[in-house]
Amino acid sequence: MANPIQALVFDAYGTLFDVHSVITACESRFPGRGTELSRLWRSKQLEYTWLRSLMGRHADFAQVTAEGLRFACRTLGLSCPPETEAVLLAAYQALDCFPEVKDALEALAPRPLVILSNGSPAMLAAVVRHQGLEPRFAAVLSVEAAGIFKPHPSVYALAPQRLGLPPEAIGFVSANGWDVAGAAAFGFTTFWVNRADAPEEVLPACPRHAIRSLAEIPGLLG
Ligand code: LAC
Repeated sequence: MANPIQALVFDAYGTLFDVHSVITACESRFPGRGTELSRLWRSKQLEYTWLRSLMGRHADFAQVTAEGLRFACRTLGLSCPPETEAVLLAAYQALDCFPEVKDALEALAPRPLVILSNGSPAMLAAVVRHQGLEPRFAAVLSVEAAGIFKPHPSVYALAPQRLGLPPEAIGFVSANGWDVAGAAAFGFTTFWVNRADAPEEVLPACPRHAIRSLAEIPGLLG
């Protein structure tokens, strides 16, 4: 029987690109506080995507990322003038890839590979270009085409529309457990990249495959 997965769709931030590579820039501006700033910034960034979606007040991920940073600095008592904020936000456009990403994408390359991310088109284009990954992807899809953030089903619907495939024929890969739950509820065949050995989310849909690294996917696809 032919493998049912005909294309792979990847989350960007936290899955392909390590959001905590901003720790270096945070640490250089706020010595000794870089790690806690990065963690709070990321968690507030995501919380604001969910809140804005519930409020019906969408703004793009670049704005939400800046607003999450402002709140994180406020919480930690850090003064972040516009020049510092610009430096930290620029670090988001030059994130590191996780170590296995480039080899895994190469191994998966005969299939169409797509990014589907909360990121704005400009942010995604910048980080994909920075890592030299443009040739790897058939498309880079942003939630901006849906005007709402993950895990709204209209976001996940962008991938089958673009690929012309049913959701179950698409492998959706994310390290964000809540994103995997949203993607599984939508109907994708899901791969949860659990690099940190985190507990599984208690949400209405479960990942089909739980893996430690993208390097496991080619073997699972056969
Ligand atoms: C993204 C968020 C989930 O890239 O990090 O869509």
